[in-house]
Amino acid sequence: MVPKVVFPDNKGDALATTGKTKQSKQSKQDYRVVAQKLRAQRESLPIFSARSAIVKQVRAHPTVIVVGETGSGKTTQIPQYLLESGFGTIAVTQPRRVAATSIAKRVAEEVGTPLGGRVGYTIRFEDCSSERTQLRFCTDGLLLREILSDPLLRRYEVVVLDEAHERTLRTDILLGMLKDIQRERKRVAELNQQAPEAEEEEEEEEWHRDHRSHGTHVTFDEPEAPVAAEAEAPAVASAVVDSVHGDVTGVGELKIIVMSATLDAERFAAYFDAAPILYVAGRQFPVTTYYTTTPQADYLDAAHLAALQIHTETPSTSGDILVFLSGQEDIESVERLLRESAGSFPAGVPALLPCPIFAALPQAQQALVFDAAPEFTRKVILATNIAETSLTIPGIRHVIDSGVHKARGFDPRVGESLLVEPVSKSSARQRAGRAGREAPGFCYRLYTEADYAQLAEDGVPEIKRCRLSMVVLQLKAAGVDDVMGFDFMDRPSKKALKHALLELFALDALDDQGALTPLGRWMAEFPLEPAYAKVVYASQAAGCTREAIDVVALLSVDSLFYAPADKRDESNAAQAVFRSSDGDHVTLLNLLRAYTAVNGDAEWCKEHFVNRRNMKHVLDVRVQLNRLCARLGLDTQRSCGADVDAVLRCFLAGFFHNCALLQPDGSYRSLSGSQAVHVHPGSALFGKKTPAIFYDQLVFTNKLHARGVSAVDPLWIAQAAPKLYGRLSK
Ligand code: CDP
Ligand code: MG
Repeated sequence: MVPKVVFPDNKGDALATTGKTKQSKQSKQDYRVVAQKLRAQRESLPIFSARSAIVKQVRAHPTVIVVGETGSGKTTQIPQYLLESGFGTIAVTQPRRVAATSIAKRVAEEVGTPLGGRVGYTIRFEDCSSERTQLRFCTDGLLLREILSDPLLRRYEVVVLDEAHERTLRTDILLGMLKDIQRERKRVAELNQQAPEAEEEEEEEEWHRDHRSHGTHVTFDEPEAPVAAEAEAPAVASAVVDSVHGDVTGVGELKIIVMSATLDAERFAAYFDAAPILYVAGRQFPVTTYYTTTPQADYLDAAHLAALQIHTETPSTSGDILVFLSGQEDIESVERLLRESAGSFPAGVPALLPCPIFAALPQAQQALVFDAAPEFTRKVILATNIAETSLTIPGIRHVIDSGVHKARGFDPRVGESLLVEPVSKSSARQRAGRAGREAPGFCYRLYTEADYAQLAEDGVPEIKRCRLSMVVLQLKAAGVDDVMGFDFMDRPSKKALKHALLELFALDALDDQGALTPLGRWMAEFPLEPAYAKVVYASQAAGCTREAIDVVALLSVDSLFYAPADKRDESNAAQAVFRSSDGDHVTLLNLLRAYTAVNGDAEWCKEHFVNRRNMKHVLDVRVQLNRLCARLGLDTQRSCGADVDAVLRCFLAGFFHNCALLQPDGSYRSLSGSQAVHVHPGSALFGKKTPAIFYDQLVFTNKLHARGVSAVDPLWIAQAAPKLYGRLSK
């Protein structure tokens, strides 16, 4: 088959055929043999020659910044060098779950221990570590939460903040908190050296007074906490608090290592009081870049064709293809297109194996990306920007860059958005670089050179364009009372901070003095947006915790249904059985009930166009949420049966700021910003009129679309947020 040409068609001719698909899969039996085998590879990395210099700098300075090209060995090697040099427990943070798990696996192999032993990982809803773990990979969000129970992060001697150049919201908050913790630990360590024991304790007390000036004892018997399960809660809560009041003697200084793949490290260095910057030489082969001659109307189509074009015009031995797309939906569309095309290759054309990788993809499938393709098969890896700098996938020689990614946005007036937006030049360069890791490579940009010239130089740090309620709650819970005065590396706007404080106040997480309430402290333990924590909390008194957890788990996973373009009507009809006139939340609940009733039967999923892979993930998340809720003192078995109104009212307790009222002209207007809000075409309530709705998310496309929409009584909104919308009840 000859695909429509996307690129001028003379590229690829000169491709060398020497690129080999590297095998990195080991037998799990003999860890030491595996480690021994990987040793030569470790020692051939560019960073190896800098080993002793790095260790020396870390010994000499409290904070060190390390800059090095992707693939130079920062993430996998530096923590091992420190371990080998006798440093104590080390945490390495990653912005993404997938990176944390896959890197931990690799490093465990290199160290020669089973994963979860000396080397492990912990991510939200999953812990693969033990008492013995000395090197722990985790997400930045996880370490933030750890600070709540261990304010000085005493268990760690070193914290490595990886991928700092990405400037994710949580990385930025961590930067500030770590700086604080480092200062505090230095102080405590110095005092421990000088002072007699009695004074040490006083210091410790004082520190805790300073840092946790409220809520050191979580109790649930405050009059405003409307929970029926009060009696069960305190035991659990005080267990949480006890771990805070540990012994601070023996706390040494905290070493911080900030690692970045881009060169602009001076800002990090300046932020950490002129910390030294170590530059690690990279190894990069030249990459030839191609642009399209005209703008592409449909980048998914263009990505599909470009992949076919590369595959049919270059020998498959010339290396695998890596396609950068914006997210799971894009990836699944291109995967489907490729599978269809791959079925009709003429004899003699090697097979094409699409391998998706994105954050929500289950572990086992993520691992496929790192395995070598079978013979006469070429892998096409379909990735989000996860493959930009945080993961090294061997064997790539061709990169296809859609030029877009999903960017979070936040406008206090209208809410959150998750938009497909053009990447920055620095991202585009990183993407291209992935083709030149092992040999000269090729990058095919699905946009014109003129469009490239228009791209912004760098992305905007997330902290400047995100909803801040979750991190503000965590800052408060960690004892940072003056959030406005916090030492941010890049300060978010006052407006956004104020909005977060107001939202937390409306959620009863903060009192009118801005201090954390017992409920707020409880909510901070949740690895979810505060609004969801509030929903789960409210469900206890309402007697529908089981259903609330179900819906929260369902909402945490994307794309539970799928609708193939050529079978829209069929899938629509098959899914009608789940659809509820109450809206999407109840529809999801119906889906889960039906799925559980058939035990997740594969055939049933197929008939109903239900994404089985993602449903399994929902069940995993549910298990974890149940465990967490039980730990936080909730009875997770409270169920409302068929009384779904109770569930919707609980959701309002968290989502009253996401409500819209029906207008006389038939449109909806948001309560908080008076914006026109349109029900998303994929919603069960699309085209239906009901006096009031609430929604999980607002997404900008050509207009403001509400997703995850349910119908509610306007009176409920007033009752859920009397501080804001009491007037609706009149
Ligand atoms: O962090 P940085 O981008 O500097 O590099 P890294 O992630 O430590 O990877 C260093 C090298 O380890 C890569 O160039 C790969 O050769 C190898 N590696 C691998 O083969 N398989 C993995 N899962 C991870 C790394
Ligand atoms: Mg890395």
